Amino acid sequence: MVLFLPLGSFCDMSNTPEPTLEEAGRAFLSGDTFRRPDYFHACATKLRREDPVHWVEGENFNPFWVITKHADVLDIELHPAEFLNAPRAILGTKEADENRAMQGHLVKSLVQMDDPEHRDHRALTSEWFLPKNLAKLDARLGALTERSIKQMEDFGGECDFAAQVAMEYPLYVILAILGLPETDYPRMLKLTQELFGAEDEEFKRDENTLLSLMQTVADFVAYFDGITADRKAKPTDDLASVIANGIINGEPIGHKEQLGYYIIAATAGHDTTSNSMAGGLQALIENPDQLKRLQDDPSLIGTAVDEMIRWTSPVKHFMRTATRDYEVRGVTVKEGQDVLLSYWSANRDEDVFVDPFKFDVGRTPNKHLAFGFGVHYCLGALLARMELKSMFSALIPRIKKIELAGEPQLTKSTFVSGLKHLPIRYELTPR
Ligand code: HEM
Repeated sequence: MVLFLPLGSFCDMSNTPEPTLEEAGRAFLSGDTFRRPDYFHACATKLRREDPVHWVEGENFNPFWVITKHADVLDIELHPAEFLNAPRAILGTKEADENRAMQGHLVKSLVQMDDPEHRDHRALTSEWFLPKNLAKLDARLGALTERSIKQMEDFGGECDFAAQVAMEYPLYVILAILGLPETDYPRMLKLTQELFGAEDEEFKRDENTLLSLMQTVADFVAYFDGITADRKAKPTDDLASVIANGIINGEPIGHKEQLGYYIIAATAGHDTTSNSMAGGLQALIENPDQLKRLQDDPSLIGTAVDEMIRWTSPVKHFMRTATRDYEVRGVTVKEGQDVLLSYWSANRDEDVFVDPFKFDVGRTPNKHLAFGFGVHYCLGALLARMELKSMFSALIPRIKKIELAGEPQLTKSTFVSGLKHLPIRYELTPR
């Protein structure tokens, strides 16, 4: 049987054979699924329609419920006392779960914490991400945008937009916020890609995903221990100084928590934002009517940016563990069981979005869940929107012609995934 749905070209499920329910659930276990948006959406659409709270069992994974409807993801996010981030915030193999149970998390960051610990740690940096502080970054974002567009001019009409432009821009922003030197850019880029792409052949260090991750984390630890020592001796007004000298409940922040903070600050805003940037451009190339609409009416940039984020949903999931029996859409999630919140599926929910598979730069309302919701709502949501606005409001008016120059390639990951290569050919109007 074949699914027939009105779809955008980024995702054409019309030729995808309909998976069985079991196949649809098991698809969430493999990073390969997220390289094939058509297949992912065929699976997620089937689950939303037939079994929106679906039990998944896999040989190498502890079982969990996969939650595919927008309303259910939202309900769980809004009940943090009933659904904890600890101990299993992200899907890993049984081996990784056992390792964590014995040794604790490799690093512990906000996404692995629950209240009151989470609240106290989030408070340490939440001020940094307030609009009044971020407004100070406007000039920096403008300069980075200029630099990227100049690079595109220098590339002479062809480049890999994902690897050569979108990967770099958000990293420079984060390095600036943290106060790290630009000379450390290549090292941070490599470490971030290894952390999120531990399953991906291009980025992994070892056949064993867990071993790859441990090696990468060890390098992060060595790097940031050096930064801590430096900022303790000579505090400045950067975010690294806030983390290095952080006091929580009258005590200095713990070493593991401190590293977790650096790592989440350095990584959470990197691949995520670059995936939205590259995926957003791909969507514009594949929907030339939407590119033209945005060129004709630049005031749509705000809705366009949110549509790019909904469309790509770079964070594919987070997980929660139930603290008591809790009913979701008539299904009892038992105390101690885990749920996987599928943001990409929720963001295509037919009950919430008109024409969910249409890329619509003027979409309003657009209540997507790509930044999560509730107490863990993405701390960098405003910053990510500012970065995308800065880039696209400068680039879009300059585009005279643009097309794909090769096959786009996505990273292999069940967690944060998106384009790693987007070959494009283009003509920009002269300055
Ligand atoms: C398009 C880009 C981005 C997307 C799609 C995204 C998505 C997410 C999601 C889904 C969560 C978990 C929310 C939940 O559990 O309810 C999260 C948390 C977080 N994000 Fe982002 N993010 C993006 C950019 C950024 C940026 C630019 C930064 C900062 C530099 C950032 C920092 C964080 C932090 C610190 C958390 C943990 C918050 C907490 O647990 O309290 N993110 N993000």
